[in-house]
Amino acid sequence: MLSENVAALLNQQVNKEFYSAYLYLDFSNYFEARGLDGFANWYKIQAQEERDHAMLFYQYLQNNGAKVTLEAIAKPDKALNSDMDVLKAGLEHELYVTSLINELYAAAYAEKDFRTMQFLDWFVKEQGEEETNANNLISKMELFGSDPKSLYMLNSELAGRAYSAPSLSL
Ligand code: FEO
Repeated sequence: MLSENVAALLNQQVNKEFYSAYLYLDFSNYFEARGLDGFANWYKIQAQEERDHAMLFYQYLQNNGAKVTLEAIAKPDKALNSDMDVLKAGLEHELYVTSLINELYAAAYAEKDFRTMQFLDWFVKEQGEEETNANNLISKMELFGSDPKSLYMLNSELAGRAYSAPSLSL
C-alpha cells in the first residue's frame, strides 16, 4: 500500500516525465529547423525514452492499487536561441529531474516503503547516465561546434542513436 504522499509524488512524476518528452521533442524540432538531423534524431529518441519513464511510473502506481490522475502537460518554456542553449537546457532539466527522483526516494525512505525504493533504484542510476550524456554533448559541442566539418561529423554520430526499450519492466 502506497502512502498518500508517495503516491502523490509518483503521480506528479508521470506528468514530469511526459513534460520531459515534450521538452525534448521541442529540442528535436529546433534542430530539425537548423538542418541538423542527427541532433534532431538524438532528441527524438530521448523524448521516446521519457515517454517510457512516464509509463513506468504510471504502471507502478496501477500495479500498487493507486489511481493515476493525468494532469495537463506544460508548454516547453526554455529559450532556445543557439545550439549550446539547447544542450545546456537539457543538462539543467536533467539535474532538475534528478532532484525530483531524490525527493521521491527520500519520501519513500521516510515511510519505510522499500518496494518503492527498489523501483526508484533504476531511476537513480538512469539519472546518472542522463546527466553524463548531457554533459558529454556539451563537451563535444565546445570542442567541435565552431568548425563546420567537425559539426557535420558530430551530427552524423548522433544520427546513429537508435531507440532501445528501458531495461526495467514492470
Ligand atoms: Fe526521465 Fe531524462 O529523465
